[in-house]
Amino acid sequence: MTRQTPSLSHIHRFVDGDRAHPLLLLHGTGGDEDDLVPLGEAVAPGTALLSPRGQVREGSANRFFRRLAEGVFDLADLEARTQALADFVAEGRRAYGLGAPVALGFSNGANIAAALLLRRPEALAGAVLLRAMVPFEPQNAPDLSGKPVLILSGAADPIIPAENARRLAEILTGAGAAVTHQVLPAGHGLTREDLTRTTAWLRGLAG
Ligand code: MLT
Repeated sequence: MTRQTPSLSHIHRFVDGDRAHPLLLLHGTGGDEDDLVPLGEAVAPGTALLSPRGQVREGSANRFFRRLAEGVFDLADLEARTQALADFVAEGRRAYGLGAPVALGFSNGANIAAALLLRRPEALAGAVLLRAMVPFEPQNAPDLSGKPVLILSGAADPIIPAENARRLAEILTGAGAAVTHQVLPAGHGLTREDLTRTTAWLRGLAG
């Protein structure tokens, strides 16, 4: 069953299911609230899905925060959008009666999920970061003790240098998160292997 509640701060899609362990779906540049629903349903069947639309427009493309160039972020905007997204998660949890979600983010959505972990760690129970990069270098690392994080990078990703993804894993690990970082034979786009590994990792959390 899907329904939409336009009164929350972000336009979003909600797919009902197990509300104790929901997924927060965060689309890439040019996506919208419907984009990752099939992925969420595939990797965690029967789980409630909360899927906001990014509030920034770049031309006709939705994003979660502004950038000055490819991979160069507007840090003030990122900070404000991260706070607003964390507030939306709290609103969504109240509105639908949800437990803390695990984020499932792709590209721009994975980058704001990483920013959420660093700025508002209470918003997330964990995160799957698909093709993520360092959103910003934190001055003070938060306490992410025990938070599970899966990072799946592409060995041939033309947007994210391997060193950048490694640095993200290092920052999150340094903050205490339980990070699994795997580099797949892939580019920036998702592959079947992303689905397989994400499904197995989420099952591991549930088990
Ligand atoms: C970003 O802007 O978040 C990254 O460059 C990924 C992208 O959305 O292209």
